[in-house]
Amino acid sequence: MRPHVQLPRYDRSQTYRWNYDHAPADLPVVDVPPVAGEWTFCGRPVRSPLGIAAGPLLNGRWLLYYAALGFDVLTYKTTRSQARDCYPLPNLQPVASEPMTGPARGMPAADEMLGSWAVSFGMPSKAPEDWRADVAWTRSRLPPEKLLSVSVVATPQPEWSLDELADDFARCARWAIESGADAVETNFSCPNVSSRDGQLYQQPRAAGVVAQRVREAIGTAPYLIKIGFVRDAALAGQIIDTLGPFADGLSMTNCISATVVGAAGQPLFGGEPRGIGGDAIRSASVAQVALFADLIRERALNLRLVGVGGISLAQHVREYLAAGAESVHLASAIMVDPEVGLRIRRELAA
Ligand SMILES: Cc1cc2nc3c(=O)[nH]c(=O)nc-3n(C[C@H](O)[C@H](O)[C@H](O)COP(=O)(O)O)c2cc1C
Repeated sequence: MRPHVQLPRYDRSQTYRWNYDHAPADLPVVDVPPVAGEWTFCGRPVRSPLGIAAGPLLNGRWLLYYAALGFDVLTYKTTRSQARDCYPLPNLQPVASEPMTGPARGMPAADEMLGSWAVSFGMPSKAPEDWRADVAWTRSRLPPEKLLSVSVVATPQPEWSLDELADDFARCARWAIESGADAVETNFSCPNVSSRDGQLYQQPRAAGVVAQRVREAIGTAPYLIKIGFVRDAALAGQIIDTLGPFADGLSMTNCISATVVGAAGQPLFGGEPRGIGGDAIRSASVAQVALFADLIRERALNLRLVGVGGISLAQHVREYLAAGAESVHLASAIMVDPEVGLRIRRELAA
């Protein structure tokens, strides 16, 4: 038997820059089991419901690497209209958490990754000329049947109006499509500058203005909007009603926030909350998908859902699909175990 060679993966003890520069040089040569059935992403045919969420695919080389490991929709990490540095280490702080039911305070840090971690990157981005060239390079090498989605976010200045925020989102989205992206995802789980409180997705009217501007910029290209945690059915309904006319789908959940404390009870990250990803958010995210799916069904809309949060097994994929997701995206689990996509495919086939 061949000795098992450990596949390259993100090293959380190293900086973001180091991991960007140490993307796997070679594509793995592996057997990728097919997933039976007919699958779509924003209505476009794909070979499985398996995709990767915005975050772990730092650049084209990481993206092509995971495309070869059994994923069919690859989301290029969130990009901006200007370069932005990453937050200092730790960028991935393991936590000990029960399943979350909403934002939390004082979550204990853990020494080892037990399934969940606090994500602290600050959405770094290369300068537009760099990421646009990399997106074009990536699309030229990605197998034609796989979809490249590019995540974008605005970089608001303190004095900006909602209009300026919308224009910055739309500019990045247009650049992504011009560079060859098959789809765009806008991250609305980001601060709403115009109201100066809460996040953009929590203010559906403002979010609708941005979504309309993005749609105008990208024509008929598939358009996904990433949102954060929602438990309230009235807010979910407003989100659907204001974003539905412009988006092809909603992806959820973009982590659930928590403050984190160290072993001596000392606050980490300066006491500021961070997004928790991994096992801890799965049940809340599946419930959120089910809530949105019901409301979309009641309205007889053709708005698709991408389930995100805590997926590492075929069973988790099935839970999201049963809740009403068209497809699923993984983040944390692929960084811990690059073979997770292959494993899920084998489990789905069994
Ligand atoms: C390392 C890392 C970086 C992330 N960066 C982004 C990002 O730039 N934009 C974004 O919309 N979400 C980002 N996320 C959130 C993920 O897309 C995903 O919504 C979240 O991690 C939940 O999925 P998981 O439980 O599979 O990790 C990031 C997550 C991780 C783990």
